[in-house]
Amino acid sequence: MSEKDREVATRVVRVSAASGAYDVHVGAGILGRVGAVARAAAGGGRCCVITETNVGPLYAEGVEASLASAGYHVAERLVFPAGEEHKTLETLGTLLEGLAERELTRDDVVVALGGGVTGDMGGLAAALYLRGCPVVQVPTSLLAMVDSSVGGKTAVDLAAGKNLVGAFWQPAAVVADVRCLRTVPREQLSDSVGEVVKHAVLADPAMLEELTREPVADGTLDDARLVGVVARNVEIKRDVVNADERESGLRQTLNLGHTIGHAIEAASDFSLGHGSCVAAGLCIVARACARAGWCSAETAARIEAAVRAQGLPTGTELGADELMGFVAHDKKRHDDAVNLVVPEALGSAVVRRVPLADLRSLIERDLVGRPS
Ligand code: GLY
Repeated sequence: MSEKDREVATRVVRVSAASGAYDVHVGAGILGRVGAVARAAAGGGRCCVITETNVGPLYAEGVEASLASAGYHVAERLVFPAGEEHKTLETLGTLLEGLAERELTRDDVVVALGGGVTGDMGGLAAALYLRGCPVVQVPTSLLAMVDSSVGGKTAVDLAAGKNLVGAFWQPAAVVADVRCLRTVPREQLSDSVGEVVKHAVLADPAMLEELTREPVADGTLDDARLVGVVARNVEIKRDVVNADERESGLRQTLNLGHTIGHAIEAASDFSLGHGSCVAAGLCIVARACARAGWCSAETAARIEAAVRAQGLPTGTELGADELMGFVAHDKKRHDDAVNLVVPEALGSAVVRRVPLADLRSLIERDLVGRPS
């Protein structure tokens, strides 16, 4: 065993959402345990892996072997084309037809193997098929490990916008193997750190401090540190989901940085990564909140320092009018106001209802990051 592949203890984080409890297993080299985890969490006789064209060739065979050795009859896997542009009703329909052709029953198990798009597609297919069957989420990207595989949000996009059709459907279990991150392109890995910084701002000032010193995605972190980072992020998300599964209160704070971040993402025609846009949105809102007296200048400066240390953008060249055009069309807008998540201190955020006109004047002088 090389030093790189040294054994690392697996961390298990228990999520207890209102609609169901499950374990998130975070480890290094644990894809071979997917079968045993699925067997213990969901039982069933048949299973089917849903994956996409990039991830499937890397990991599906190993995961299927693990499922077979746990006693499952493994149906022919369902593979859809990789990319957000395929997160559609059409792909969803193909997957549902595929599950029916494979004669899965409500007691059988869907295994969603891949990044955020696969988690959404596999999770929603499982939520809908026979009015709901168990799904085991096996996230292979950092974004999916620290955020989207936990908490039960599943969705597909419509022409009118992202994630407009979906369901809350908690997984039976999650298996996150940080070794899968070795095959994720560096740029995509760095991008996902935007959500890690967001979690640190919401709940863990000490982690924010670490993020200011230690880049997560430059390839220097070993498996043990990666397991620690992913497990801590899962715990933070778990605490929120346990308290508010359906986003009627606390879960809204997970949208920190997203109001402006989504607008930047849409204005760039989705050419900028989600995490980078969230990071920029987070800094813009933090600076604007400091100016408004809703948080201290020190809080805003520390957020910006962590974002900069992770090589993520701290602002945007886009103008306030252009951004507000996209904010006005965001699905989370309520009448003529938005629920803006305000980082009132490190480790504490509140939701403020802000009229669109006020939001424009709030952010217009804080769109560009401060020089380091
Ligand atoms: N990614 C935000 C949430 O799961 O609520």
